[in-house]
Amino acid sequence: MRIVVPPGALVMLVGPAGSGKTTFARRHFRETEVVSSDRCRALVSDDESDMSVSGRAFQLFFEILRHRLELGRVAVADSTAVTARARAELRSLARRCGAPVVAVAFDVPLEVCLARDTVRARRVGREVIERQVELMRQALERIPAEGYDAWYVLDERAQEEAEVEVRRSPRRQAASSPAVREVARNTGGEVHGMTIRKVGVVGCGLMGSGIAETCARQGYEVVVREVNDELLERGLRRVQQSMARAVERGKLPPEERDAAWVRIRGTVRMDDLRDCDLVIEAAVERMDVKKEIWRELDRICPERTLFCSNTSSLSITEQASVTRRGDRFCGLHFFNPVPVMKLVELVRGLQTSEETLDTCRRFAESLGKTVVVAKDYPGFIVNLLLVPFLLDAVRALEKGLATKEDIDTAVRLGLNHPMGPFELLDFVGIDTTYYIAEAMFQEFKDPRYAPPVLLKQMTLAGHHGRKTGRGFYEYRQ
Ligand code: 3HC
Repeated sequence: MRIVVPPGALVMLVGPAGSGKTTFARRHFRETEVVSSDRCRALVSDDESDMSVSGRAFQLFFEILRHRLELGRVAVADSTAVTARARAELRSLARRCGAPVVAVAFDVPLEVCLARDTVRARRVGREVIERQVELMRQALERIPAEGYDAWYVLDERAQEEAEVEVRRSPRRQAASSPAVREVARNTGGEVHGMTIRKVGVVGCGLMGSGIAETCARQGYEVVVREVNDELLERGLRRVQQSMARAVERGKLPPEERDAAWVRIRGTVRMDDLRDCDLVIEAAVERMDVKKEIWRELDRICPERTLFCSNTSSLSITEQASVTRRGDRFCGLHFFNPVPVMKLVELVRGLQTSEETLDTCRRFAESLGKTVVVAKDYPGFIVNLLLVPFLLDAVRALEKGLATKEDIDTAVRLGLNHPMGPFELLDFVGIDTTYYIAEAMFQEFKDPRYAPPVLLKQMTLAGHHGRKTGRGFYEYRQ
C-alpha cells in the first residue's frame, strides 16, 4: 500500500506511542522523508529530558523541513508536540513551497497515552476504556478544525500492514488496546486517507475553469479538457484573469498563483484524463452530452477513479447508469464564482457508496468549501429554491410589473441579496438557467419550473449573459 497525499496537505497519524506511526509513515507515504523533532532534540542536547532545548530543537526541525520542502521533497514532520502555531507554520510552509506533502505524526492526548494499556485497563475496568475511547474520539473530532486534511488511526492491522516489528516491544499491548481498536472501528476502519492527487475537469467554461483554478490553488494537479483549442484557450484565460483578480485583492500571493498555474494542464483529448484520481464533469447541462462523456471516461479511467458531476439539476443516478462505477459516482455541485463561493452540494446517487461520499466530502473541504449533502433530486437544495425565484422574476418582467433595473434594485436593497435576479441570471448564464429550468420542468411537470418564453428566446439568440457580452444587460468584453 502506497498512500498518495496531495501537495500541501497536512496529515495526522493518531496512535499511542510505540504504535508504529513513524514506520507507517516511512513505508506508506510515497517518497517520504521523515524529519523528526525528537531527533532534532537529541541533536541540540544529549539530555533528551531537558525541556529547555525544546525551542532550539523546534527551530532546527523547521529549518530542516523548510530545506527539504524547498528542494521539492516530500517530508513527514514527525513530532509528538505539534502545537496549533507549529501546525499553521507547517501548512503555510507546504503551500509556499508548493511541496508535495507535509505530514505530521501526532499523538493522542497525554491522558490517553497514560491510561491506555490493556493490562492497566483490564485492572481498572470498562470505565477507563470508555474514557479512553471518548478522549480519542474527541481528538479525532478536533482534526478537521485543526486543519488536517486526512488522518490515519493506527491499530493492530495498520501495524501489520506496515510490517512493524512490535512483537518484542513491551508497548505492543498498548498499541492493541481495546480503546484503540474500538475507535478505529467507530471511525470506519484503521485508515482514513486522502488518495486524491490529480483531478480531471471536463469543460473549461464558467464552472469548469473555476473548479480547475480552485483545485490547483489548493495544490492538486489538474488536467482540464475542452472540446477544442479555442474554447480551451478562452477557459484558461478566464483562470488567469480570476487569479490575477485574486492577487489584486490580496487573496493570493503571486508566488502561489504561479505555482497553481504550473499545476494546470489544458487538453482537448479526453485520453489525458486517464490517470486522474477524481474527475469532475462541468460540461453543458444536457443529459445526452453528460452520458456520452461518462461512457468515454468509464472506458479510459482505471477502476479507482471517482466520477463527480457538477450538474445542478440532472440525475446523478441516471448519469452513473452508463458507467460501471455507480458506487464511485456522486454529485459535487459548486457555485459561481467557484473560487469565491463557499458552498458545495454533495449529492448522493442511489448507488453512491459511503466511502465515495466520505472521500468527496474531504476533497471538497480540502478546497476550503463547506459541504451540504443532498439527495439526488432535481435542483438539489439551492436550485430547487433559486430557479423558481429567477423564473418568477423573468415572468414579472414579461408581465411589465417593473423594469429589470427596479426589480434588481428591489431585491438587492429589500432582501440584501448581493445581486438582483437579472444580474444573477446574466452572471450564471441565461442558457445554463434555461437548461436547468427545462430539466426541472421535465421532471416535476410543475409550471413553476417551466422556462419563460423570454429565457428560451435569449438562449436561442445567444444572449447568454456576461459570458457573451449581452444578456439582460450589456457588458464590455
Ligand atoms: N479569487 C478569490 N477571491 C476573490 C476573487 C478570486 N478570483 N475575486 C473576488 N474575490 C473576493 C474578493 O476579494 C472579495 O472578498 P472580501 O469580501 O473578503 O474582500 C469577494 O470575493 C467579493 O469580490 P468583489 O468585491 O470583487 O466583488 P463583489 O463584492 O462585487 O462580489 C460576487 C462579487 C461575489 C460575485 C457577489 O456579487 C455575489 O456573491 N453574487 C452572487 C453570486 C451567486 O449567487 N452565485 C451563485 C449562483 S448559482 C450557481 O452558481 C449554481 C448554478 O448551478 C446555477
